[in-house]
Amino acid sequence: MRTPIVAGNWKMNTTLADATALARDVRAGVDGVVGVTTVVCPPAVSIVPVSMALEGSSVHVGAQDVSANPPGAHTGELSAGMLAGLCTFVIVGHSERRAMYCEDDRSTAAKAKAALAAGLRPILCVGEPLEVRENGRAESFVTSQIEGSLTGISDISQISIAYEPVWAIGSDRAASPEIAQEMAAMIRGAVADLYSKAVSERLPVLYGGSVNAGNCASFAAAPDIDGALVGGASLDGHEFAQIVHAAASV
Ligand code: PGA
Repeated sequence: MRTPIVAGNWKMNTTLADATALARDVRAGVDGVVGVTTVVCPPAVSIVPVSMALEGSSVHVGAQDVSANPPGAHTGELSAGMLAGLCTFVIVGHSERRAMYCEDDRSTAAKAKAALAAGLRPILCVGEPLEVRENGRAESFVTSQIEGSLTGISDISQISIAYEPVWAIGSDRAASPEIAQEMAAMIRGAVADLYSKAVSERLPVLYGGSVNAGNCASFAAAPDIDGALVGGASLDGHEFAQIVHAAASV
């Protein structure tokens, strides 16, 4: 039995005041909900005030990125050790970082490793661009991302994988529940091949890409989907809480 994870990726949104208010809204909205792990990933500057606003609640805080490097001369970066004292989860390999900040499977694996070593729980993002899907290569593309992004990681018990097709992110064009389920099952199969069936059966596989209050129940109902990574809709505390409730009530 896998506990679903619903994580809000606030991306580069919210001032300090917005972030604290949003955290309070999420806290109120998910109060008392059980059977789901709720995570919010604010911008790094808001991790501390958001953690304070959520203190004593069941809502976890995550970072949106982490450096693969140990502390030292890396201007602008945040080490896994710094984040580990402040949050529980960290997103690695998000498609925006892959597309805009030259990240690839190799750097994503290094980040995931550094995060695990510091005791953080990585949410590893994979997903194909539109042209890859149109060429019928989505499965091999995502399989190769998984192999590459997990290279050198022997224990994935603290990792979850988010299937986020690039064409569905921020597009109002979510994948159909059928496609999302098919890809989630495929991901579980790829992980079974790399590790074992038992490991793959414990792995949380999230869907991300234009998840909202209207479509979340259909993803939650899919047997291989264990929660959601939510961007735009996570900026509305009430809507995000509805998504959390939908994942919990399956
Ligand atoms: P979206 O973003 O929900 O706005 O599509 C999802 C994500 O990028 O994680």
